[in-house]
Amino acid sequence: MDSNKEKMVILGGVRLHGEVKISGAKNSAVAILVAAILVKGKCIIENVPNVSDIIDLIDIINGLGGKAKFVGDDVVEVDCTNLSNHVASSERVKKIRASSYLMGALLGRLKKAKVALPGGCDFGVRPIDQHIKGFEALGAIADIEYAMVNLEAEKLVGDTVYLDVVSVGATINIMLAATLAEGTTIIDSAAKEPHVVDVANFLNSMGANIKGAGTDVIKIKGVSELHGGTFSVIPDQIEAGTFMIAAAATRGDVTVTNIIPKHMESLSAKLEEMGVGVQEFDEAIRIYVDVPELKRVNVKTQPYPGFPTDLQPQMLTLLTVANGTSIMKENVWEDRLRYVDELNRMGANVNVEGKDTAVVEGGTRLKGVPVKAKDLRAGAAMVIAGLIADGVTEITNLQYIDRGYENFENKLRALGGQITRRIVNQDAPDMPAVI
Ligand code: UD1
Repeated sequence: MDSNKEKMVILGGVRLHGEVKISGAKNSAVAILVAAILVKGKCIIENVPNVSDIIDLIDIINGLGGKAKFVGDDVVEVDCTNLSNHVASSERVKKIRASSYLMGALLGRLKKAKVALPGGCDFGVRPIDQHIKGFEALGAIADIEYAMVNLEAEKLVGDTVYLDVVSVGATINIMLAATLAEGTTIIDSAAKEPHVVDVANFLNSMGANIKGAGTDVIKIKGVSELHGGTFSVIPDQIEAGTFMIAAAATRGDVTVTNIIPKHMESLSAKLEEMGVGVQEFDEAIRIYVDVPELKRVNVKTQPYPGFPTDLQPQMLTLLTVANGTSIMKENVWEDRLRYVDELNRMGANVNVEGKDTAVVEGGTRLKGVPVKAKDLRAGAAMVIAGLIADGVTEITNLQYIDRGYENFENKLRALGGQITRRIVNQDAPDMPAVI
C-alpha cells in the first residue's frame, strides 16, 4: 500500500512503558550503501533499517548496474564489481536526499557522474556548493544544467578542502570522492556526526585509509582499490532520541536498547535539565518521569555534538507540556519550523519569530485533530503529539515518516501506544477496538 494513501490513527493518553530496540541508523546506512559503489567485491551490510529510503537506494544502485538486495531482515548485500553506469536521473534519485552521495561515489569510482539534484525533506534551500567545492579541489570539472549535476575528472588528486559550513553531506561526499584518489585529501572543518565516523569505518574496513573522522580534520590517503567485507551499521541516534522524547512526553518509563549512549548526550542532558529521569547503561538508556511537572528549557540545534536538528520537532513537542516558556532556536536549517502550525492546530501555543526561533508556552493540553506530517522528523513529532493529546489524532502524509522509521507503529504499540494505520478514507471512531 502507498503510504501517502494511509493515515496513522492515535488515541492519546497512554503512558509508554517497556523496552524498545532501536534499528540501524538510516542516515548512516544510506551513505554506506552508496559508499559500496566504490568497492569491487561483495559488501555485506548488517543492521540496515528496512525503510523506504533504503528500498529506493537499492533500486537506484541496481539501476546503475550494481547488485543490491536485502538478504535478511536487516542485512543488505551490495556488489558493485561490474557497475559501469554513471548516470543517475530516475524519479527515485530526485526523491531522496542521500542520492547526493552518488556524486562522490560515482566520481570516485568512474571519474564521472551525472546525478539529478536530490530531494528529501523540504525545509528550505539545500545547497550543494560545499560538495562541489570539494570535488573541484580534487580536480573534477563540475557544472549544473537542468537540475542535473555533471562531474568529470581525468584523474582525482588529493588536496586540502576547507568547508565554509559544517556539512554532513559535503564531508561524506568528499570522503567518497577522495578514497580512491591519488595522494592525500584533508577535509578541514569537517562534520563530526556519528554517521560520518561510521562511513569512514566502513570504508576503512574495506581497505581505505581514512583518519580523523569524528574530529574536525579528516585525512584521506588514497588507495588504488577497495575489497569486499562485512560491516554493521551503528544504531539510529535519531530514532533513539524520538523514543526517549516520546517516553518523557507521555510520562512513561521506557528503556531504549541497542544504542550508543554517548551519541545521545546532548538530548540526555536537556531531558535531565527538564527533570526527566535518565538512567544510562552500556547500550541502553532508561527514561522515566517521577516529578509532578517538567521544567522549561531553552534548546538550540547545532552540528554534533550539539543538539541535533533532526530531534528539534520532537523536542519542541515535548516542550509544550513543560511548565513555563521555552525557546527553541533552529541553527542548522533555515526553514525547519513550518510544522509548528500543525501543533498549534492541536492546541499548542507556539510562536515562531523570524524563521528560526520558536517560543513555546508550555503547560498546554493538546487535542487530537487531523494533522499532516510536514516532513520526516516533523511527522515523528506529530506522532508524539498524538500520543499525549486528548482524543484521536489522525496523521496523513505518512510517506515522510516511512522514509526513516522502521516498524514505528509496531514498536510504539509494544510500549502500550494506541496507534494503528488505516486507509485514508476509512473511519476509526472506535479506536481501542481497531487496535
Ligand atoms: C544530513 C542529514 C539530515 C540532517 C542534516 C544536519 C542525512 C541523509 N541527512 O543532511 O537529516 O538534518 O545532516 O544534521 O544524513 N550547507 C551548505 N552548503 C552545502 C551543504 C550544506 O550551505 O554544500 C548547509 C545547509 O543548508 C544546512 C547545513 O549546511 O544549513 C547543514 O547541512 P548538511 O549537514 O549538509 O545536511 P545534509 O547532509 O543534507
